[in-house]
Amino acid sequence: MAEQRRPLVAGNWKMNGCVADLDEIAAIRDHVASGAAGIAEVAVCPPATLLMAAARLCADSALRLGGQDCHAAPNGAHTGDIAAEMLKDAGASYVIVGHSERRADHAETDADVRAKAAAALRAGLSVILCVGESRAEHEAGEALAKVGAQLAQSLPEGIPADRLVIAYEPIWAIGTGVTPTRGHIAAMHGFLRDELRHHVAGSADAVRLLYGGSVKPGNADELLNASNVDGTLVGGASLKAEEFLPIMQFYSNR
Ligand code: PGA
Repeated sequence: MAEQRRPLVAGNWKMNGCVADLDEIAAIRDHVASGAAGIAEVAVCPPATLLMAAARLCADSALRLGGQDCHAAPNGAHTGDIAAEMLKDAGASYVIVGHSERRADHAETDADVRAKAAAALRAGLSVILCVGESRAEHEAGEALAKVGAQLAQSLPEGIPADRLVIAYEPIWAIGTGVTPTRGHIAAMHGFLRDELRHHVAGSADAVRLLYGGSVKPGNADELLNASNVDGTLVGGASLKAEEFLPIMQFYSNR
């Protein structure tokens, strides 16, 4: 982890959370206020229905909020979709684009993801771009090629490095309890750092590279210690403040 990059610990709540779960966001906010995350920035990406209420809870807090997806257009006849501008208006600082569940459930292509990332920038949001290979691609030794292609095809040209976060999330590790070796993560993140030099405006060293996929309190130390890992995108273990807390605390003594 280079000194100029502030680690980011981000929770992706996916399609989980109702009004009662705002208590968890308040608890995470309080952990952040008490310094539990040390030098790290902490963000939660709740379902869009909770964003405004969460923003009210976090009004004077360092806890950041994000959306989980956005439409490429700023407004219009797109029933059920949410514009990046609306997420910003509701209090988001970040938006996740290209999550493998969106790619699978909604047939999102790299071109779609690129348009969404451009929309996020237009709206003043920072982008958390997810990339990652399938189990079959992993087993065939195609992980770097797959992720390199995703990166090349889904990053808007000249995206500012300081508005971009990449989350490497091998699909076979998401929600499975199976995780890559530290060596695999380090190799992938080193590759991503090199590739980014061709794709971003500004220094590629400023882009934060997160690892995501079955990060839990019990494996955070092992996974987040890999070189070029600047934080994590956490699904299941971000839903409860008491499970998210020990992951945030990885950065408390650095
Ligand atoms: P998980 O999800 O932590 O539940 O594996 C991670 C993600 O999909 O962002």
